[in-house]
Amino acid sequence: MKKITIDNLISEMTLEEKASLCSAADAWHTKKIERLNLPSVMVSDGPHGLRKEDDSPAHFGLLESIEAICFPTASALACSFDRDLIENVGNALGKECQSEDISVLLGPGINMKRSPLCGRNFEYFSEDPYLAGEMGAAFVNGVQKNDIGTSLKHFAANNQEWRRMSISAEIDERTLNETYLTAFEKVVKQAKPWTIMCSYNQINGEYSCENKELLTDTLRDKWGYEGLVMTDWGAMNDRVKALKAGLDLEMPSSHGETDKLIVKAVNDGTLDIETLDTAVRRILTLVDNSLDSKDKHSGFKYDMEWHHEIAQETAENCAVLLKNNGALPLSKNQNIAFIGEFADNPRIQGGGSSHINCHKIDTALNCVKELADVTYAKGYNTDNEQTDENLLNEALNTAKNADVAVIFAGLPDAFENEGFDRTHIDMPKCQNELIEEICKVQKNVVVVLHNGSAITMPWLGKVNAVLEMYLAGEASGAAAVNLLFGIANPSGKLAESFPMQLEDTPAYLNFPGNRDKVNYNEGIFIGYRYYDKKKMNVLFPFGYGLSYTKFRYDNMKINGNDISESDFSFKDNENVNVSVDITNIGDVDGAEIVQLYIRNHIDEDNRPVKELKDFAKVKLAAGETKTVTFTLNFRSWAYYNETIHDWYAPSGEYKILIGASSRDIKLQKAVSITSTTKIPFVVNKSTTCEDVERFAKNKAPLDEMLMKCVKAQHKEESPKTEEEELKDLKCGFGGVPLHSTLSFTPDELKYEDIQNAINEINKGE
Ligand code: BGC
Repeated sequence: MKKITIDNLISEMTLEEKASLCSAADAWHTKKIERLNLPSVMVSDGPHGLRKEDDSPAHFGLLESIEAICFPTASALACSFDRDLIENVGNALGKECQSEDISVLLGPGINMKRSPLCGRNFEYFSEDPYLAGEMGAAFVNGVQKNDIGTSLKHFAANNQEWRRMSISAEIDERTLNETYLTAFEKVVKQAKPWTIMCSYNQINGEYSCENKELLTDTLRDKWGYEGLVMTDWGAMNDRVKALKAGLDLEMPSSHGETDKLIVKAVNDGTLDIETLDTAVRRILTLVDNSLDSKDKHSGFKYDMEWHHEIAQETAENCAVLLKNNGALPLSKNQNIAFIGEFADNPRIQGGGSSHINCHKIDTALNCVKELADVTYAKGYNTDNEQTDENLLNEALNTAKNADVAVIFAGLPDAFENEGFDRTHIDMPKCQNELIEEICKVQKNVVVVLHNGSAITMPWLGKVNAVLEMYLAGEASGAAAVNLLFGIANPSGKLAESFPMQLEDTPAYLNFPGNRDKVNYNEGIFIGYRYYDKKKMNVLFPFGYGLSYTKFRYDNMKINGNDISESDFSFKDNENVNVSVDITNIGDVDGAEIVQLYIRNHIDEDNRPVKELKDFAKVKLAAGETKTVTFTLNFRSWAYYNETIHDWYAPSGEYKILIGASSRDIKLQKAVSITSTTKIPFVVNKSTTCEDVERFAKNKAPLDEMLMKCVKAQHKEESPKTEEEELKDLKCGFGGVPLHSTLSFTPDELKYEDIQNAINEINKGE
């Protein structure tokens, strides 16, 4: 196909043609312009597989998607904490897009897990912006190195399904930037996604699609984004306002209706042609890049069996071993019972726009046959919460006669999905009952979980082991069997906290909001930031996971030194290297996820107790030691400051914590950081005398003002000097705002004295 020359093309296009390009032709294609030989390109969901609708004549109108590979969903992927693994999944998906003639894969979704109730949490990575950003960037890099675009979604603050198309997320500036935009910023800067998909919802009363502050001021001007912004499907509100705000492409088709609005606005002078041209240029750039890609990769076909193996290897590296009292790994010689429908029919993905028509599904029950003879009982139904007494009795008999009962449990589709939120975080009653009852007849119980988000485990104290598979994709069964038998060693760690109960969760009092608004009153304190600050117990903390081997942490060094803590002192913008030795001290090979958190000791700015700032997954043979090195930078110390509308790292002492989880810190060192940014201290009538004393550069005007009062009242016979009396006065005036000093001083102090002092102090800033 011939490469287009964008500027020439724009100059040849009529106004109507330009407007027409700004909305899709149908659900998945951009519009073509035959007169100019401009072809259309196709986009498809995303994110953990390719959901390309089959438009072949045989399937016309059925909206079926073609067969593809279903990889683990994002909530599982993030537990790998493995950038290379995620990039590899992205790479495989990029190849599938090439093979199926898709230009943009609609993903990844990197919204924060504000509450475990969000129905779509299975499609999102984490409660931590750093981790979500790193995972998202690796994914985008993986896809895009194949000359296939991604669509980073849902920008922004789409953290619930309830009224997701209209609700306004009410978020303060710091929380929005620090918690809900950071992951997007990271992916934009590190991986340059070809496109970004705006969210359906409003933020502080403005729809994302027409939010100039979000789409232009932040995304383009601050972060330097150059790609295209499209709507989520049906998210368009005011077409012309959206175009002005920086929204280029409307998805899906609006049957030409909104194109007419664009034409009208240009004609009546309410929309500049330059604004339209900018959007058109971005759309043409996408088409142009896609044409290049098609030229380069034409005829490529991917190998489904190979990609299935990638899905299996990925699932094995994501699963999290939550408990193990020695029950795992299983031995082939044991008399093993597999119980639960998910052994035979695993839940491997969620429902909605990400649902993949899997090319094949490995079940644990089938895969285990190659290794061992197991007995099986279905145990429960997934379409009903009530216990089926016949299934329960059959399961109890099967479990009783075995050496170990492995129960495959989790959440059925009806419990979590795109389009609705959960109302509780429990597993179905019949499954909890089954586990409790089996524990009465069998001492050795292992639970294998299939769920997209955190759940409660009332039976946790009674079972010997728990393996969290999450929604592990089409090779889930094969991966589970390899992990259970120790052919693969579990190495995932939780990318979200598991609370003890729903009532403990940060957004409990403010989720999902009322009809119009949801208040993010918990601010930056979501996930472990909340549980740590409130010193709460959790079922399992962020970053937690076990292995069949053990690891030792030692030799923590900063810039190669392990000298005493107080000797480390850096400017906030210096790079700081932190290294640590990790040794596999067990008998089997394994991998450890080493986490680096920063604790800030200047609590004035209401900082979290600790925050993840880097991590590494290290593969170690039994007995092997490796040195892991992290590089910290300005953002490792910084928080978003609302006075300067930017990131700021206050001077003071910080601790660098190296941990095996957020609640298992192995080594730490303190460093002193000096800020290179001065936040101007602006004084007004409400500023207290104490704050002027503490923060103002030039404190003299306040002293001069108060000295006037001292002099007016000073008595010859006073035992104190005027200076001493001034000191006393200032002491007594600690929390008094400047305007109130008037009420507590003699007549000599005038209002203009206060105003003059304020002006002089502010001049000094
Ligand atoms: C979802 C998006 C998805 C789009 C296209 C929307 O409803 O929110 O994530 O990419 O549909 O299927």
